Amino acid sequence: MLTDRAAAFTGLAREHPGGVTVPLPGRPMHVMTSPAAVKHVLVDRAERYEKGLGQAEARAGLGHGILTGEGHAWARSRRSLNPLLRARTVHKHAGAIHQLATDSVAELSVPVSRQLPVDGVLAQYAVRCLCTVLDVPPPEVRPVAHALDLIQDDAMFRAMSQDRVPAWLRPRAERRLAEARAVLDEMADHVVAAVHASTTVDEEPPAWADRDGVVSLFLAGYETTASTLTWAIDELSRRPALLDALAEERDDAGEPTDDPASVLKMMGQLRLTTAVIKEVLRLRPPVWLLSRRAVQNDVIDGWPVRAGDDVCVITAEVQRDGWTDPDQFDPTRFLSRSDHGRYHPFGLGPRGCPGVALADVEATLWLAEASRRLVLRPVVGRRTGVLARMSLTVGRGTSYVVSGRRATPQQR
Ligand code: HEM
Repeated sequence: MLTDRAAAFTGLAREHPGGVTVPLPGRPMHVMTSPAAVKHVLVDRAERYEKGLGQAEARAGLGHGILTGEGHAWARSRRSLNPLLRARTVHKHAGAIHQLATDSVAELSVPVSRQLPVDGVLAQYAVRCLCTVLDVPPPEVRPVAHALDLIQDDAMFRAMSQDRVPAWLRPRAERRLAEARAVLDEMADHVVAAVHASTTVDEEPPAWADRDGVVSLFLAGYETTASTLTWAIDELSRRPALLDALAEERDDAGEPTDDPASVLKMMGQLRLTTAVIKEVLRLRPPVWLLSRRAVQNDVIDGWPVRAGDDVCVITAEVQRDGWTDPDQFDPTRFLSRSDHGRYHPFGLGPRGCPGVALADVEATLWLAEASRRLVLRPVVGRRTGVLARMSLTVGRGTSYVVSGRRATPQQR
């Protein structure tokens, strides 16, 4: 559990498909994968649960923004954010996001093949997409990403140690956490100022736009999509024929104008690209652990849970269910049928992801442009490292052999 969290949780869930209680001292943890249990906790009886393991402890760094907040304040934030992220609004930015995707891919399109890390470029792209939709100027990404990394590491340490190590025993870690938060506060202040500046005198500034709200939103809104795209690169780098098929699909879809409707029409033709993203989200859901903490005694699908217990849903395990060869990366499974209900990479219920539409547009457009412009190969002899924190990512700085793709006949 301390050295390889994702593998430990996955092992527990796979060995105990009906659920298992880990009797941790102080706070028992129930690992559940049955559809009935997942629905009970996340949807039907969501009011009996708050955010749990990992997310609760992340409050030390993130505060009480939309991701980790609860109750009335959370509900106000959520209500004020939803309109900005609903599909109809996000789709108006499709032209701008397509331009960002094209520019981002161009940064990797080097003439001679080179080993390049992709996470920095993808972080920058995801932050720019988010800022486009929020209509705020993008911050410098590297310090923000670094500070959010640090906050996640701290949250994981607190979660795994049940937050029992007092601050005075880890003064260096506490100092680094405060420094990270200072970086994020500075970024958040600029965003809040930009949002307030665009609010008219008769309008209330939106409830999400305070320091904690912005910090939460940046963590939730950038790393998940960046990590989805990194996993897609990882899979495609080992499958040149699939990458070629995506390139052909993108070429066949033609050149959109700047008009959002034209970009969305082009996107609508990218069935295989969409299936690749769905399959990445099935096998490598960035939010790998959906955790809740019971606020009252409950019985989940016959399983007794006491107030204060943690309940953990391992999304990738739930999403294996019902498929042939569930551990194989096979996007074509999504061409013949959609999913079968046991697919929830964006969560479920009232705390489900409000960023689905943005994630869809930005991931599809980037992958489509990357497949037609880039040749991707793995670095020989390197195994892909996994970093399981609040989100599941490819190890930081992982490189791929990248070069620009020669123009296809359609492009010439
Ligand atoms: C592929 C990309 C993404 C995935 C897989 C994803 C997944 C998720 C999941 C599973 C949750 C629920 C967590 C829980 O129930 O504990 C969530 C929450 C959230 N996501 Fe996403 N997300 C993605 C992209 C985005 C984007 C682009 C935004 C942008 C604004 C965003 C904003 C949020 C917010 C604010 C929450 C917290 C909602 C709440 O607690 O009310 N996400 N996301």
